[in-house]
Amino acid sequence: MHHFEYRNGRLYAEDVDVAALAGEIGTPFYLYSEATLRRHMQVFQKAFAGTDPLVAFSVKANSNIAVLKVLQSEGAGADVVSGGELMRALKAGIAPEKIVFSGVGKTRDEMKAALDAGIYQFNVESAPELEALNALALEMNKTAPVALRVNPDVAAGGHDKISTGRKEDKFGVSWGEARGLYAKAREMKGVDVAGVDLHIGSQIADLAPFEAAFSKAAQLIADLRADGCAIDRLDLGGGLGIPYGNAAPPPHPDDYAALIKRLTAPLDVRLIFEPGRMICGNAGILVTRVIYVKQGVARKFLIVDAAMNDLIRPALYDAHHDIIPVVQNDDAPRETYDVVGPVCESSDFFAKGRALPEMKAGDLAAVMSAGAYGAVQASQYNTRPLIPEVLVHGDRHAIIRRRPSVEDIFSLEAAPDWL
Ligand code: LLP
Repeated sequence: MHHFEYRNGRLYAEDVDVAALAGEIGTPFYLYSEATLRRHMQVFQKAFAGTDPLVAFSVKANSNIAVLKVLQSEGAGADVVSGGELMRALKAGIAPEKIVFSGVGKTRDEMKAALDAGIYQFNVESAPELEALNALALEMNKTAPVALRVNPDVAAGGHDKISTGRKEDKFGVSWGEARGLYAKAREMKGVDVAGVDLHIGSQIADLAPFEAAFSKAAQLIADLRADGCAIDRLDLGGGLGIPYGNAAPPPHPDDYAALIKRLTAPLDVRLIFEPGRMICGNAGILVTRVIYVKQGVARKFLIVDAAMNDLIRPALYDAHHDIIPVVQNDDAPRETYDVVGPVCESSDFFAKGRALPEMKAGDLAAVMSAGAYGAVQASQYNTRPLIPEVLVHGDRHAIIRRRPSVEDIFSLEAAPDWL
């Protein structure tokens, strides 16, 4: 459920008229609904009520500091994958003891910053990383709290490029290697290995892969305890899909939670989750304006002012995003369009062969479900400035990231003195 709906034929974000806002701010821009962010956080937490999990929002999905502040105020922690994300989470007021640090390539500087901050857990993904963290912690006279990320070899996720838990993926320690590495870790004085971690993929549309992976994790915990490892945390990652409008809806968080409670209740561990998309995906839209309607030889193109550099998901993952007119025009005949941006790449599209009410130059469209992996994956390709992010709260709105000018962009560049 989200708070974007038509009122008298005009799209509203909570109590804000999107067309009026577009006139004020200029297109394109991302628009987030605070009430939706809060609601999704609450739905997730309610599903696990009584089990006191750490819900560490996966900052990579949407790392705007204002968004993080909203989620922090709902009790969220943070799952970070870089020094930059760690600083964002801390800046948003997220307590270090609610931060977990994931990722296959943590540098020494990043690990140092996280040890200095006193984060809750390092999710360690390889033997060399474990050794580096142990050595650094010893130098710093600290003990690093660690979970090893294990790779259960389960295929899951909405697209090949967002599946992470198969043995050919770069993520995690292989199942066969895991017990041996835990045994080694127990001998290391700079790390305290307290947990098992896994994350199998993203936009997962059914419960079966979760069940397969989490059952394996439960068995691993039993084996590790038999080996003498004191495991009291289980980090199950993120991955729960959201409805994008093109396929059967993914499982409800309550069903996901029921499965997890069933599998983990006998283990007596603290559960950690790293949801990203599920919290912010449907809390954001991308508002764009039609520049031209172009009749090609074989297709009709809606050329809009947003492009793949602003939202790369269709180009990169063949992702479906619903596209709707900001001002409804149901009497108009339906047309089939390729909705494309101005960037000079054939992969610069938002939809192909999409039936929409006829649109004309100047009309506004909303690309739905763009709150996760939208703004965070944007680039300035074609020297298109990053687009603003706007947060709505009831009838109020605030620009939570401004649009840089081209001068702002140029200010980071310098010609060498020989030119
Ligand atoms: N934890 C870890 C270790 C992750 O790698 C990810 C996502 C998450 C949690 C959050 O997963 P979520 O709950 O959002 O599914 N850019 C792609 C998605 C990449 C996901 C990467 N890892 C997209 O636009 O679909």
